[in-house]
Amino acid sequence: MCGIIGYVGTKQALPILLEGLKRLEYRGYDSAGVALVGDDAIRITKSAGRISVLEQILKHDDQAVTGIAHTRWATHGAPNDINAHPHTDQSGRFAVVHNGIIENHYTLRTYLQNEGVTFKSDTDTEVLGQLIALLYDGDLEETVRKALHEVRGTYGIAVVCRDEPGVIVAAKRGSPLLVGIGKGEYIVASDASAILAHTSQVVYLEDDEMVCVSANGIRTTTLEDIPVTKKIQEIEWTLDQIELGGHEHFMIKEIHEQGAALKTCMRGRIDPEKGTIHLGGIADVARELTRAKRIILTACGTAWHAGLVGEYLMEELARIPCEVEYASEFRYRNPIIEDGTVVIAISQSGETADTLAALEEAKQRGALALGVVNVVGSSIARTTDAGIYLHVGPEIGVASTKAFSGQVVVLSMLACYLGRRRHMSQPGAEQFLTALERIPEQVTTILEQNDACRKVAETYVDRDNWLYLGRGYQYPVALEGALKLKEISYIHAEGLPAAEMKHGPIALITDDMPVVFIATRGSQYEKIISNIEEVRSRGGRVIAIATEGDHHISQLAESVIYIPDTLEPLQPILTVIPLQLIAYHAALLRGCNVDKPRNLAKSVTVE
Ligand code: F6R
Repeated sequence: MCGIIGYVGTKQALPILLEGLKRLEYRGYDSAGVALVGDDAIRITKSAGRISVLEQILKHDDQAVTGIAHTRWATHGAPNDINAHPHTDQSGRFAVVHNGIIENHYTLRTYLQNEGVTFKSDTDTEVLGQLIALLYDGDLEETVRKALHEVRGTYGIAVVCRDEPGVIVAAKRGSPLLVGIGKGEYIVASDASAILAHTSQVVYLEDDEMVCVSANGIRTTTLEDIPVTKKIQEIEWTLDQIELGGHEHFMIKEIHEQGAALKTCMRGRIDPEKGTIHLGGIADVARELTRAKRIILTACGTAWHAGLVGEYLMEELARIPCEVEYASEFRYRNPIIEDGTVVIAISQSGETADTLAALEEAKQRGALALGVVNVVGSSIARTTDAGIYLHVGPEIGVASTKAFSGQVVVLSMLACYLGRRRHMSQPGAEQFLTALERIPEQVTTILEQNDACRKVAETYVDRDNWLYLGRGYQYPVALEGALKLKEISYIHAEGLPAAEMKHGPIALITDDMPVVFIATRGSQYEKIISNIEEVRSRGGRVIAIATEGDHHISQLAESVIYIPDTLEPLQPILTVIPLQLIAYHAALLRGCNVDKPRNLAKSVTVE
């Protein structure tokens, strides 16, 4: 969703801001803009559409050493030039960029209008700029503090003032914000990827903290003006991890990275020979966790699908009752959290607003709150009592791929860890971990079937409706395969437990309907073969994901993609790979923008 970048230092701000905006593009946006603080004026350039449009109208020789910039994903007001950020007050003395939602913007707008203020845009953000101007007393930091006391809602903001060139004041509540520390220069950003080209030293702001940034340094305080000493942290990611590196799209790059990424995810954590697992991030809560009476996994989208696999894993390996909740539903229900309930939030970005709110709700009700998160230092990671990082590297493609497989690997390790501490035998753990250790190499061999996956996409790409069916561990994979296809190729696809087909969806099957069966060898193999027969007898076009060596299935399906054999609980990590590839090729064949699908944002930081 929206992205913020701000620069204070001695270099020309504009190229740095523009480069930062491009690094933020992956988050999804519909307009962009820049404010440069000159000697006697703030110069704003903004436009609807891509950053390339903004680049065409910018004066590239504009000299300024301080500036702020923004990519907007519309919430209040259409995605047009006027509603694009930065927003100014009516005199043009202040400029503001903002991520989040000012919930009482209507009341504030009415108040300001009664004070004679004229508004230009339909946004909630403009209210902030106008309010700061009305309250300004010669001290930007103090005025922003006063203004924020009047505001309800969420924000990451950066503000500049014509009268105080060389200063950015930034603040955070519920929307990520960090400050990159360079040599005599500072970069405020909503996302580490925007600053990585300049520095890997960073300070993360907490909710209700503010920072006043100038070339002389940074001063962090709370909204109540209590000074805060911040720890400088090192960003783990490297620049080449957030670049295409010769790949056509981030999605295909990240699909191909999965073997290596999963290896990193497991590194130092599993010992198959001894049947042991070391998860340092949860060591402090291991006792409480092992005694859990119930686990609730909460997440959104793809992470929720990983949670569904986690439910099977927790119940089978750890023998702990487990349920999976959409974070958006959990947070507004009146969930029952009893003694011994552990809530685990699963999130790639660590910034998904609903998942964060669900976690906060669970904590407030006394649950032990854990996280399975990719982005180190993200809001969800900082809110949890303990957690396990994915360590799969940055995921830039909007469609989540390596994060899903990483989430399932982490949940597999966690389930085995708990199982081993409760009832699982050492040989049982040894067998499971030996199979898990082989997964990265097996993932890599599946990628060799890229051409076969492209062929499936070519054969059925003109069909507007697809079904994905699986049973047991493969049911969540069916959901994930359908989500991948619809979000990037805009083909309508539905995922279902295969047995549910007979309760309604079978009515959809005609000789035009591609039906993807995840039909690997396992406890429900014969059942799924029966489901395939049911679809065939109604003329459906069967595509099967099957286990290597299963020749029977090639007589039933029009297309088969084979995956190597592994233990049933680990199969989802393998079966999802061909589905990611099929979706990728279908999107390309339909001419879709794979990395920036319409209407979607990488990290959903508003409800
Ligand atoms: C789909 C996708 C989304 C995310 C969801 C949660 O490809 O990426 O469904 O999985 O928005 O995001 P995180 O994991 O960042 O909380």
